[in-house]
Amino acid sequence: MSKIIAITSGKGGTGKSTICSELGFALAKQGHRTLIIELDFGLRCLDIMLGVKDNITYDLGNVLKGECDIYKATTPVKLASNLSIVCAPEDPFAKVDAETISNICNEMRKYYEYIIVDTSAGTNESVFDVVEQSDLILVNTTPDPICVRDARLMSDEFYKRGNKKQRLIINKVDPDIFKADIIPDLDNIIDTVGVQLIGVIPSDNEVVISTGKGIPLPSNSLAFRAFDAISKRIKGEDVPLSFKVLLQ
Ligand SMILES: Nc1ncnc2c1ncn2[C@@H]1O[C@H](COP(=O)(O)OP(=O)(O)OP(=O)(O)O)[C@@H](O)[C@H]1O
Ligand SMILES: [Mg+2]
Repeated sequence: MSKIIAITSGKGGTGKSTICSELGFALAKQGHRTLIIELDFGLRCLDIMLGVKDNITYDLGNVLKGECDIYKATTPVKLASNLSIVCAPEDPFAKVDAETISNICNEMRKYYEYIIVDTSAGTNESVFDVVEQSDLILVNTTPDPICVRDARLMSDEFYKRGNKKQRLIINKVDPDIFKADIIPDLDNIIDTVGVQLIGVIPSDNEVVISTGKGIPLPSNSLAFRAFDAISKRIKGEDVPLSFKVLLQ
């Protein structure tokens, strides 16, 4: 059974693409065939984050223009044997409709256990429809109140349209709060967004280094443990949300 997982947020820069690449690395490392489809038109970044910027011959833009099929536009990630990427079109105004993307995702379900969809911030109508139809929506926010409010607005819209399979990721949390395991502020964030928490990711400079170099996170980093735990919860494993457990 394959699963389409879409990462979304209200505001930009909350860590959607980072979450896509790190969850991709984590699931692939655990032996799952994983595909990332980047839908941030005109602002591709996952080729850098996954270390394949010099290996992209075709991207989703070529598929949408009929210049190649989706298989040709799928690039394997060298550093993760089970991971591949379909990069976003370089043209910010590339024409797309939700049905075309949904058809592509459904075609790729045959070959991949997890299809992770990266999106742009806010609302592009077609991408919104694709997210709404996914099997799991990961709503992403930072602790910043503006991001939290916008995450709530996005999530409400998905609920209104009938997608109840949403989980919350709070990213860029102060590492001291993360380690202390005392989270009154995080409880407020969860209440405000109104979505069940699936994981908290500390602010960790290793994330910036790894995504900049296009390599997986070191396995002794705080962020690695956070992403590893989230990937296992996505698979239905019972990994406690307590950070103390993560830090053991
Ligand atoms: N946990 C983290 N710790 C430290 N830095 C982080 C973390 N998560 C993301 N970042 C940094 O935050 C910046 C924005 O991240 P990213 O590009 O993943 O956000 P985004 O939501 O995809 O942005 P956009 O809305 O523009 O697509 C990047 O510089 C990234 O390295
Ligand atoms: Mg992004």
